[in-house]
Amino acid sequence: MIDIHVHILPGLDDGAADVQTAEAMAIIAVENGIHHIIATPHVSGGFPEYKCNDITGAVDQLNLHLAEREIALKIYPGAEYYLEPDLPDRFAAGELQTLNNSQYLLVELPADQVPPYTGQILYELQLQGAVPIIAHPERNHGFISNPQLLGEFIQRGNLTQITTGSITGMFGQKAEKAAHYFIRQNWGHVIASDAHSSRRRIPELSSADKIIKKIAGKQLSRSLLVSNPSSILEGKSLLPLPAPQQAKSFFSFWRHN
Ligand SMILES: [Fe+2]
Repeated sequence: MIDIHVHILPGLDDGAADVQTAEAMAIIAVENGIHHIIATPHVSGGFPEYKCNDITGAVDQLNLHLAEREIALKIYPGAEYYLEPDLPDRFAAGELQTLNNSQYLLVELPADQVPPYTGQILYELQLQGAVPIIAHPERNHGFISNPQLLGEFIQRGNLTQITTGSITGMFGQKAEKAAHYFIRQNWGHVIASDAHSSRRRIPELSSADKIIKKIAGKQLSRSLLVSNPSSILEGKSLLPLPAPQQAKSFFSFWRHN
């Protein structure tokens, strides 16, 4: 499996504090069947303005460390950018680290709202060939209180990443309900752990897989957890999502088969 949103680079943000924690997270990832991780440190929004070189340097170092320890996990460069009005200019200047140097750019909105300039910024990024992926919209109060707003962003070609912990209820009922609703609406495009540590927010995707299979069916789960993460890593376009299906209960199975 591929996890496209993980704070695993040691010491860069509020994720892995040191290389020991990064190694522990790597071991957990491998135990959970994850062998490819895109490292996505926070950039700006209270964190330093890391440049692409800072991120790729840290990725190379961690890959070396994991290879020395014979841990079967490969790290790729990425970042999680706080939504700021100058993002399109920084993209034009080649300053933004996309997900594994693809067209996909992970963007985080402030948790309490959807700023009025959001649509304009995402549009200006798209005009330059970027495909914005909105990180965990199910945790954003603006989208929770006005889900249609998210639908509109998606209609305009933006993608979303839903977080495992939201789907399982780790971030509370509101995020859980929103995550399930967005997935059933076909408004989720990729699932990622957004892991920050080796304790609570760990790199793990299978708990989300189980729930999505139940609420929306196997096919959609496969798209969100296998096909789409793989396309993002390889910089390919995503295929249209299969329609969500409720898993059949024993009764309906018995009735219709
Ligand atoms: Fe994150």
